[in-house]
Amino acid sequence: MKYNFDEIIERKGTNSVKYDISRNRSKSEDIIPLWVADMDFRTLPAVVDELVKAARHGIFGYTSINENYFKAVHNWYKNRFDWTTEPSWLVPVPGVVDAIAISIRALTNEGDAVLIQRPVYYPFTKIITQNKRKLINSPLLLKEGRYEMDFDDIEYKIKKENVKLFILCSPHNPVGRVWTKEELLRVGEICMKYNVTVISDEIHCDFVYKGNKHYVFGSIKPEFLDNSIICTAPSKTFNLAGLRTSNIFIKNKNMRNKFIAEIENSGMSQPNTMGLIACQAAYEHGEEWLKQLIEYLENNIKFIKDYLHTYIPNINLIELEGTYLIWLDFRKLNKTEEELEDIIFNKAGILLNKGTIFGEEGRGFQRMIIACPKSVLEQAFIRLEMAINGRIP
Ligand SMILES: Cc1ncc(COP(=O)(O)O)c(C=O)c1O
Repeated sequence: MKYNFDEIIERKGTNSVKYDISRNRSKSEDIIPLWVADMDFRTLPAVVDELVKAARHGIFGYTSINENYFKAVHNWYKNRFDWTTEPSWLVPVPGVVDAIAISIRALTNEGDAVLIQRPVYYPFTKIITQNKRKLINSPLLLKEGRYEMDFDDIEYKIKKENVKLFILCSPHNPVGRVWTKEELLRVGEICMKYNVTVISDEIHCDFVYKGNKHYVFGSIKPEFLDNSIICTAPSKTFNLAGLRTSNIFIKNKNMRNKFIAEIENSGMSQPNTMGLIACQAAYEHGEEWLKQLIEYLENNIKFIKDYLHTYIPNINLIELEGTYLIWLDFRKLNKTEEELEDIIFNKAGILLNKGTIFGEEGRGFQRMIIACPKSVLEQAFIRLEMAINGRIP
């Protein structure tokens, strides 16, 4: 491998949410933070080089996207997902969560129903309720260890609640599903039938493991593209979350105008100078880096599977198809969430995301990020095994 993903990079004291907040929460200095979705790997050298060059120039004035920026983003989606985009569809926004909030405010009114599928990335719930929209949940079904959409329930609730918007998490955080073409087609058809606009959050689309394939929602059918907002970003893929740069694609002009008007209403029309530089460099030069990273993550997954199988068989790993977040099923331990928290956080010294923050459906589960050096995971699982078996007082 050309890139060294084994390197332990000190992040404490860098004002990192992942490290410094968890350290503040814990009494212990050596807590292993495996919660927030940002990786412990340095981004690719080409991104660092471009940022250093810009930093040395020393002027950080207003900026905007140009032809080369668009080309880099366009080529990435064309080459990886066979999806053809056009410059006019692209609206840069700081974050995908921002884009979802903007979409909700631009396309619905207070009291309108918005559909999500729990357990799901918790800000969806917050954005819907804090904007005074009605939250409608169609829980995913866990069938023989794999999560599936409940199409009958989706249709029933869309009809009954007069749903206006559906926030699709694709690939799905936290359950790690990469939706198949058939699943996307079926859910997309239901949305078309009842005039439900789809906000497709595809921030994890670059992390897809062997045997799975990600389809951009808007690439499935022209009508789907016309009825959706496709949210993408280089932030998860290349570990750039703090640079606040996302690329939102909206083909439908009427929808796009409403979206842009809402951005302007919020007074946040300017993109981040360094973010655009990093995004362009990542998409231009990042293919090989990402290929090696995915191989590394596949090896991490294999380690976890083997470890659980051998040493902690009563914790079940939900098969990871995509994302770098695993969903661990602790239900066989028969512990309350507080008891689990005591074992995992207080005794093992690991900070995870407890399942219920993703909805009540997540009770008994925990989410863990695996985008870190394997040695960190080895240490975490050894501690977890010892804590579960009462070998840490
Ligand atoms: C599904 C999903 N959407 C959005 C985000 C955050 O996006 P941003 O930081 O661009 O707002 C995350 C971060 O973990 C995520 O998992």
